[in-house]
Amino acid sequence: MRECDRVFIADNIELFLCPQCGGDLVFDSESLSCSGCGQTYAEDDGISSLFWPNEWDPAKEDVTARIKSFYEKTPFPNYDDFDNVGSLIAKARRGLFAKLLDDQVPAGTRILECGCGTGQLTNFLSIANRTVIGTDICLNSLKMGSAFRDANDLKRAHFIQMNLFRPAFKPRSFDLVISNGVLHHTSDPLLAFKSIANLVKPNGYILIGLYHKYGRLATDLRRVLFRLTRDRMKFLDQRTISGDISQAKRDSWFNDQYKNPHESKHTVGEVLGWLEETNFKFVHSLPKTVPFENIDHSERLFQPDRLGNLFERLIVNLGMIVTGHKEGGFFIVIARKMGD
Ligand SMILES: C[S@@+](CC[C@H](N)C(=O)[O-])C[C@H]1O[C@@H](n2cnc3c(N)ncnc32)[C@H](O)[C@@H]1O
Ligand SMILES: [Zn+2]
Repeated sequence: MRECDRVFIADNIELFLCPQCGGDLVFDSESLSCSGCGQTYAEDDGISSLFWPNEWDPAKEDVTARIKSFYEKTPFPNYDDFDNVGSLIAKARRGLFAKLLDDQVPAGTRILECGCGTGQLTNFLSIANRTVIGTDICLNSLKMGSAFRDANDLKRAHFIQMNLFRPAFKPRSFDLVISNGVLHHTSDPLLAFKSIANLVKPNGYILIGLYHKYGRLATDLRRVLFRLTRDRMKFLDQRTISGDISQAKRDSWFNDQYKNPHESKHTVGEVLGWLEETNFKFVHSLPKTVPFENIDHSERLFQPDRLGNLFERLIVNLGMIVTGHKEGGFFIVIARKMGD
């Protein structure tokens, strides 16, 4: 296990729990074990592994193993050959949303990212003195994230292998839980949401990014075309042929978008139902839920925004058919956990 993760786990052992039985974990110089069930959690290839499988009823579909092996082969989103802290900051801040997050999430915030992939956001957000734990089921992605972290001496980013359905953290431990582009690659997005929502402190925030039901139509159409032409029409996806990013990143994007073994699609209306079930209040979304209102540099992501009514949300949903093709038909919701 990397020294930086070892020290972090030892110093913060009260945050962790056994993903199998929920018991307290003890850290004994090299290995983690559960004081309840006795399970030990070894490291895997230098990454601390607190992975535990879902153990659902066999009748319930479980795509975790398929998704894991898919991303082990093509970790997402991967890095460009020349990436360093400077380029990571420059690229992230070029995207308005990441810039707003960086400007508005205070130093000292304790963040958990569930499904961090190759760890760009975890590493990026840790730069300004926030403690960020990136978790994923995919070891190869975690290894890339932690290699970048080590090469750039980012002391506040940590990487742990964890299944978001079997968290290795105590409930109500985090100021902000992020899961961007992940829940729709699970068999049960609502259960996944409930699982990670439980880790947010009262008055803390959750941020989820999901594929949009209508925004994904253009991608679905391209997927069919690619299948029919044996990928000869790849040029229809700009990012797949962009010369600005590495070949590894292009391949990773193409596989993630068009060869993924499992994805589901959602709407803000559906997520509002999830929020109600878990005692969260809608704060902000991207795109906004009111038509023809754009997000700009003055947007306050963590201040409550107006929630559009049913009709307004319908217009925004339909607009996603036209605009969704840009970022793979994605929407983001930020919500706040109500105090008890
Ligand atoms: C599309 S990638 C998104 C990566 C990153 N969040 C981003 O926005 O670039 C989806 C990630 O979710 C992870 N994932 C899928 N199911 C998971 C689960 N049950 N627990 C933790 N991570 C999971 C995958 O391994 C993969 O790295
Ligand atoms: Zn245990």
